[in-house]
Amino acid sequence: MQEVTENKEFTPNIVAFCCNWCSYAGADLAGSSRMTYPANVKIIRVPCSCRVNPTFILKAYQQGADGVIICGCHPGDCHYVTGNYYTRRRIALLFSMLNYMGIEKERTRLEWVSAAEGQKFSAVMNDFVKTITELGENKRLTDLRVKEGE
Ligand code: FES
Repeated sequence: MQEVTENKEFTPNIVAFCCNWCSYAGADLAGSSRMTYPANVKIIRVPCSCRVNPTFILKAYQQGADGVIICGCHPGDCHYVTGNYYTRRRIALLFSMLNYMGIEKERTRLEWVSAAEGQKFSAVMNDFVKTITELGENKRLTDLRVKEGE
């Protein structure tokens, strides 16, 4: 008897919070320079990385995200001077909380991408999507009411 294997390719849902002044411009540069990054990366433009309340990340997981990445200006380059320092501290605290909740650390990432780093933006997104694809679907925190087809 032949074994039937299901070939169901997993495409992760990725949410990318990008600060307006650097990372979003970096994404723009990647696009205008014809560098590619996966289409399943959904960018949410925020004024500064510090605008990303950690509850936004939890909400993203609840709504079906498989990975969340926060991109901001390099330390010392934040348009609001100290915004990304707050981000860095908040995310460090969030990491320990996510660990406690059983969400793999690799599912959440913080990256500094400047407006001139289109190539870095593209590389970071490709690498992040690869990591999340390997990790598989996020089953923690997911609100079952928002899942389609189950
Ligand atoms: Fe980019 Fe603050 S404006 S991190």
